[in-house]
Amino acid sequence: LWRQGFKRRKLPPGPIPLPIIGNILQLDLKNMPESLSKLAEKYGPIYTLHIGTRRVVVLHGYDIMKEALIDQGDIFMDRGNLPMFEDVAEGHGVIFSSGERWKQHRRFTLTTLRNFGMGKRSVEERVQEEAQCLVEELRKRKGQPTDPTFILSCAPCNVICSILFRDRFKYNDEKFLHLMNLLNENFRLFNKPWTQLYNFLPAFRAYLPGEHKRILKINEEVKDFILERVKEHQKVLDPNNPQDFIDCYLSKMQQEKDNPQSEFDLENLKMTGVDLFSAGTETTNSTIRYGLLLILKHPEVQAKIHEEIGRVIGHNRLPSIKDRQDMPYMDAVVHEVQRFIDLVPLNVPHAVNRDVHFQQYILPKGTTIFPLLTPVLHDKKEFPKADQFDPQHFLDENGKFKKSDHFMPFSIGKRSCAGEGLAKMEVFLFLTTILQNFTLKAVGDPNEIRIKPNYVGFSKLPPRYQLCFLPQ
Ligand code: HEM
Repeated sequence: LWRQGFKRRKLPPGPIPLPIIGNILQLDLKNMPESLSKLAEKYGPIYTLHIGTRRVVVLHGYDIMKEALIDQGDIFMDRGNLPMFEDVAEGHGVIFSSGERWKQHRRFTLTTLRNFGMGKRSVEERVQEEAQCLVEELRKRKGQPTDPTFILSCAPCNVICSILFRDRFKYNDEKFLHLMNLLNENFRLFNKPWTQLYNFLPAFRAYLPGEHKRILKINEEVKDFILERVKEHQKVLDPNNPQDFIDCYLSKMQQEKDNPQSEFDLENLKMTGVDLFSAGTETTNSTIRYGLLLILKHPEVQAKIHEEIGRVIGHNRLPSIKDRQDMPYMDAVVHEVQRFIDLVPLNVPHAVNRDVHFQQYILPKGTTIFPLLTPVLHDKKEFPKADQFDPQHFLDENGKFKKSDHFMPFSIGKRSCAGEGLAKMEVFLFLTTILQNFTLKAVGDPNEIRIKPNYVGFSKLPPRYQLCFLPQ
């Protein structure tokens, strides 16, 4: 009995860590999903790993993910904070907060992004407007070879601007370009190897003060950018007629000013704005950029998409989200793009908010959890050609769209992506609008197109490429 009790109190098994560096020698930092899967072969679907001095519990596979994030979702819903995130967010906003502050901001963000209270223009209209501006911009390339990286990052960023600040910017607006530069540099610095060192090896922190200060400074600049717009909004605010996210937030602050439990204040407004930009720009843009690359590589897929767009939408009206139900092929392509590219393979770390019995183990309160997405999105039992791009994974034998519980690029449970609805709308509408207006043409032989991702920090990004947008 004593032995059994002792065993139950243990953390899940895992490789023995070395002092300071933990299990880093067992990990290929350039391909973390693969090294984490190798460890799962040895230790099973739940194991303990030491990345530097930080102890994390890794969840590997559909069943264990569901058991933790859905069945015990109330316990696995805290954010597993990493030092760099803590320094930047200081617990504010929605992504890196926990407890009551997170609950209030998550609820507010979800409701506002679902169109409640943002005036007459729906989120969909804002995305449709941006998709048209994107097409106009691509037309200017006159079918010449183009690297789509910059222009495709403008569009999702502008959707967030339109939601937060009411209006979009012109692509050559100086303020917009300044914001884009800040966000790009932030993303680049966050994903540098030394940032990972900073997060996992405190012993190295003393050597990194310059870069660390730069990240903090950029985030302050993005917050200042948001604060400037907040001040403009405050001057003309009509709480009975809010037009955008900032108006809604300011109205909420007014409504709750006498409530001591309210977490709505300017500091959290600024950080929530930063969160929407950092979570909602690079993710959507990389998905669309990767999607175009995969369609370029597979001309037969492009032909089927064109046929479906011609049949369902034609060329005389804008694509809308309602069209998705009549476009099973495009729907399957979008799902397969997200499944195949597996953009955030390791997910964002979670933590347990109390001591918990889980399987035969006890995880102490605060334990960092890595609920991996790759093993689910690339599960061969669910997706027979898991390592290939094949929209058939989401189609039944009659060509109807086929759902899969394993489709979880946005994660699952209480902490799953708060922008999922918006992101799905953007990916569908941007890709459909581009393909309604253009034929994508490869610069060389489509067979030679490289589709292997570049691992950059926490994400898998598409390789750089060029293509021609030939007007239809
Ligand atoms: C969190 C994926 C687009 C806002 C997350 C998480 C993932 C994710 C994996 C972590 C979930 C977890 O911790 O379990 C994606 C992908 C996107 C995308 C693949 C695009 C294809 C967006 C957009 C927005 C957004 C457009 C909003 C504008 C957020 C927020 C969180 C989040 C606020 C934090 C949620 C919380 O902590 O409660 N996203 N995301 N995301 N995402 Fe997204």
